[in-house]
Amino acid sequence: MIQLAERFLSLRSEDVILLRAIEAGMRRREWVPLEEISAISGIPASKAEYHLRLLSGRKLVTYTKVPYEGYQIEFAAYDLLALHDLVRRGFVASLGDRLGVGKESVVYEALDDIPMVIKFHREGRTSFSRVRRVRDYLRDRPKVAWIHAAALAARTEFEVMRRLYPSVSVPKPIARSRHAVAMERVTGVLLTKTELDDPEFCINRILEEIGKAYRLGVIHADLSEYNVIVGEDITIIDWPQAVGRDHESAEELLSRDVSNILKYFKRKYKINLNPGDVLRKIKVDDG
Ligand SMILES: Nc1ncnc2c1ncn2[C@@H]1O[C@H](COP(=O)(O)OP(=O)(O)O)[C@@H](O)[C@H]1O
Ligand SMILES: [Mg+2]
Repeated sequence: MIQLAERFLSLRSEDVILLRAIEAGMRRREWVPLEEISAISGIPASKAEYHLRLLSGRKLVTYTKVPYEGYQIEFAAYDLLALHDLVRRGFVASLGDRLGVGKESVVYEALDDIPMVIKFHREGRTSFSRVRRVRDYLRDRPKVAWIHAAALAARTEFEVMRRLYPSVSVPKPIARSRHAVAMERVTGVLLTKTELDDPEFCINRILEEIGKAYRLGVIHADLSEYNVIVGEDITIIDWPQAVGRDHESAEELLSRDVSNILKYFKRKYKINLNPGDVLRKIKVDDG
């Protein structure tokens, strides 16, 4: 597997121009014909075609003949465009190792003034159900390309984090480009991967943060032991599915978040809290 940094270093300005042209074309259609790429990029069709073949060999673009002749960029190319933009705007000075491949994302370490991660969203390729939800917002554009689903998820995540930080314990959001969110790197380990000394304290901290987010009008909606990092304090990550309190399923989603956390602490630490009491407390504090 070729790493992002390696690909980034071998990227030439012409490649960036062509990839951006395809990206722009994909706003209007799934596959972008050569003539359109040529028109947008200002690169003559024959020359563009030659470079597109090379890019396709590097698995950065895909070429198809059906339903009509055209090109798409691959996720790897979209990663490169986002990284290129974050570097250009001065948010990222260096890129580190890959931290992990999640269900919905690929996360890299990065560095600028502070240790960061760059989370590249993968909605649209890996999780059908989440894409369907994201696509609810795009109902009027049913043929929308996957890049829009990923970018929309990143936008939601970034905006929600900006709204919550620093009142709620979330990583400091730094910048977004396309489907990529740059944020502070949190020191600690996932809740699932640690044995807590003081589980009581930890669950209370998590519930407190759920309450604070709720008071700011936000429900995580994908909360579980996999989205909590435990260090000196707890930090809640992974916010692209968050919804507002005015969402039609807000109550249900809040109660699912709470019950996921309660179940985990009950199973692993034998802590018994009543979901009804916890939910009531979140709402009473609100009043
Ligand atoms: N801000 C962060 N600091 C440190 N590690 C992080 C951070 N954000 C994500 N990670 C790591 O990347 C993994 C995936 O991130 P997450 O936001 O949960 O995405 P998803 O589960 O949708 O793939 C996390 O489990 C965690 O290990
Ligand atoms: Mg997660």
